[in-house]
Amino acid sequence: MSLLKKADEVRAGFFNTLQEDPARVDLEALRIEYLGRKGKVATLFKQMGQVAPEERAAFGQTLNQLKQELTEALDERESAAAAEKHSTEEAKIDLTLPGIASPAGTYHIITQSLNDMIDIFGRLGFSVAEGPEVESEWRNFDALNILPDHPARDMQDTFFTKSGHVLRTHTSPVQVRLMQSQPPPIRSIMPGKVYRNEAVSARSHAMFHQVEGLYVDKRVTFGELKGTLELFCREYFDEDVKLRFRPSFFPFTEPSSEVDISCFLCHGKGCRICKQTGWLEILGCGMVDPAVFEAVGYDPDKVTGYAFGIGIERPALLRYGIPDIRMFYENDLRFLRQF
Ligand code: PHE
Repeated sequence: MSLLKKADEVRAGFFNTLQEDPARVDLEALRIEYLGRKGKVATLFKQMGQVAPEERAAFGQTLNQLKQELTEALDERESAAAAEKHSTEEAKIDLTLPGIASPAGTYHIITQSLNDMIDIFGRLGFSVAEGPEVESEWRNFDALNILPDHPARDMQDTFFTKSGHVLRTHTSPVQVRLMQSQPPPIRSIMPGKVYRNEAVSARSHAMFHQVEGLYVDKRVTFGELKGTLELFCREYFDEDVKLRFRPSFFPFTEPSSEVDISCFLCHGKGCRICKQTGWLEILGCGMVDPAVFEAVGYDPDKVTGYAFGIGIERPALLRYGIPDIRMFYENDLRFLRQF
């Protein structure tokens, strides 16, 4: 058989294999079989010696062409196979699937409550002020007309520091700071943490939050206090909540009152939460005592004012049916994520 014919056969064999089912052709094996060092094309080259000298050049050219043809065909198939593989992998990515959301934090329920209150009072013209949690005894007690023999000043009720300061037992000392730092009028709320030396239980904690309110100007009246608190409670608790002002006593207000709201769970009918009374106690308030104005350098003949202090935890406990106040501070995400 002439070598040219052999070359044709090699070409035909190669393309036959290449045209088989593309998934089954092993391109690498095919390359070795035909183009490898001992492959079919190399074998043809070795037989050049048998060709008549005058035909050798033409035959060499034919072989070179064959080699090039096979190489190109293989290269083409290989890059097609690579592209195919890539696109099936891509097809596995479903771009319409929702992404993996990174978990966003939420506000702690106490922060949410504070923000709600700040928002409501903000609309009523109250600005926000803050003071330190470690406070002088004078601001926490004396300036607020709480005399040295008052039971609140006992070690049993108050945390004292070695330096003779106290952890503030209420947010009322911030009233004192505000009035000391600026002349009237003042209309502010003062949110923050307060501390009491109490046994921690499901119902009470040694640390909790209050929002203090203070409005001082010429001729501020108790009627305005009532109106403001009513508006606040309707916004914060329930549209048709009722308020009950009970006469009470605080050294820094005169007259003083404790305010109950109609139970927002049973709407006054009586339930376990309001202990069948239909009422929930939520805040203390009153008209600023002239002794407080004197302590901060205001003239009690020229200004009057009202003040109130609202607890944060208790209404939140009631509102969401939380059984234990300690849950607020345990940082258990299973609890916190619910709000
Ligand atoms: N400071 C009082 C308390 O902690 C609440 C209060 C504030 C009462 C302002 C009257 C006026 O109980």
